[in-house]
Amino acid sequence: MSSAPFDFAPLLPAGLPPAAVRWTGRVKHDFTGGNNDADALPLDGLIAAADAVLRREGRTLATYGLNSGPQGYRRLREFLVAKLKADAGIACTADDILITSGSLQALDLVNATLLARGDTVIIEQDCYQGSINRLTRLGVTPVGIPLDRDGMRVDALSAALDDLKRKGVRPKYIYTIPTVQNPTGTILPVERRRELLRLSAAHGVPIFEDDCYSDLVWSGQRPPALYAMSEHGGVIHIGSFSKSIAPALRVGYIVAPWDAMSRMLALKTDGGTGALEQIVLTEYCARHFFKHVPALRRSLRAKLETLMEALREHFGAAAEFHDPKGGIFLWVKLPDGVDTMKLYQPALAAGVAINPGPEWSVNKGESRSRMRLCFASPTHEEIHQGVATLAEVCRREFGVAAPGARIERAR
Ligand SMILES: Cc1ncc(COP(=O)(O)O)c(C=O)c1O
Repeated sequence: MSSAPFDFAPLLPAGLPPAAVRWTGRVKHDFTGGNNDADALPLDGLIAAADAVLRREGRTLATYGLNSGPQGYRRLREFLVAKLKADAGIACTADDILITSGSLQALDLVNATLLARGDTVIIEQDCYQGSINRLTRLGVTPVGIPLDRDGMRVDALSAALDDLKRKGVRPKYIYTIPTVQNPTGTILPVERRRELLRLSAAHGVPIFEDDCYSDLVWSGQRPPALYAMSEHGGVIHIGSFSKSIAPALRVGYIVAPWDAMSRMLALKTDGGTGALEQIVLTEYCARHFFKHVPALRRSLRAKLETLMEALREHFGAAAEFHDPKGGIFLWVKLPDGVDTMKLYQPALAAGVAINPGPEWSVNKGESRSRMRLCFASPTHEEIHQGVATLAEVCRREFGVAAPGARIERAR
């Protein structure tokens, strides 16, 4: 006797996001997502670290939280205290840090602590899709601030804050990715950081600083974090090991004053971030982090060179971009006639996955002909082949990127 499959549909509460689609495998030329460079993954070091730390401390896995309490593995937080002091100028203690399951959980905890349906927040106009989607889902209105080659335009931020004040709206936070912005790859200079902090204090709006890519500045020199520069303490800082070591480890963190931290801690009800990841990561990082990251940056920079070269070769003047100051993405402008939301499917059918601009922006009109390309994950050869194929699709679908474009541009 065969029975009909159980029907969950009538049980689903209102307001769920659309159903997920099944994963059908990675495409041949994948320029999407925030995946890292597999060849640059420090596999031998991680294997050795796993072996050493499990032999030494493995039995602490028998306790929730590794005998370190709910904020995460103490040695990892101590590593972060030293790291954040050395490169971001942050003076904090292990008690100011909460280890999270990737910085996505950090985003969720900050949002759950501060946001309610109907609230307003300020974000960079072109921004991380994961952050934009969370706000949409929560029923929060994002006010987008335009960027230039130095990141968020603080003059526009000032005008937006004044405008909201006139309307009686106090935004809940100013969310920014100031150090290698996603998707533009810009870095906010120190002067703008000062002005941003001044505006935050003047308007009583905290700053939510997402420093996910700050280890990947090509020069190795990053400006101090907003958290470090703040005098009023109204900054929540989040970071991640996804981009410096490996995204699949799912280890991120929050640095926050106790007032905010104690609220977020009360919302972190998952029994602790994965312990194996934390101990292996700590063992590896304590010995190798500061040697590994410059080598990773060199390999990423080489892939970016390949991507920019391939775009010039196959698109010529039809693809415009600024050389980003670090990271794993290139934010590319195609001719106005190209709608990257419509380019997505034919490109995918040809084996090339791109991130269409409107999905990475709150200004859907201005980002219509933009796309975000991740260059970390594909090999040099895949980058060349993928860009060549994408250019063919663009020619076929939108009549752009004629083969002679490069020669015209060179003259
Ligand atoms: C700006 C930004 N924040 C946060 C995240 C989340 O990263 P993870 O959860 O892997 O730390 C990403 C991922 O790409 C990102 O680009």
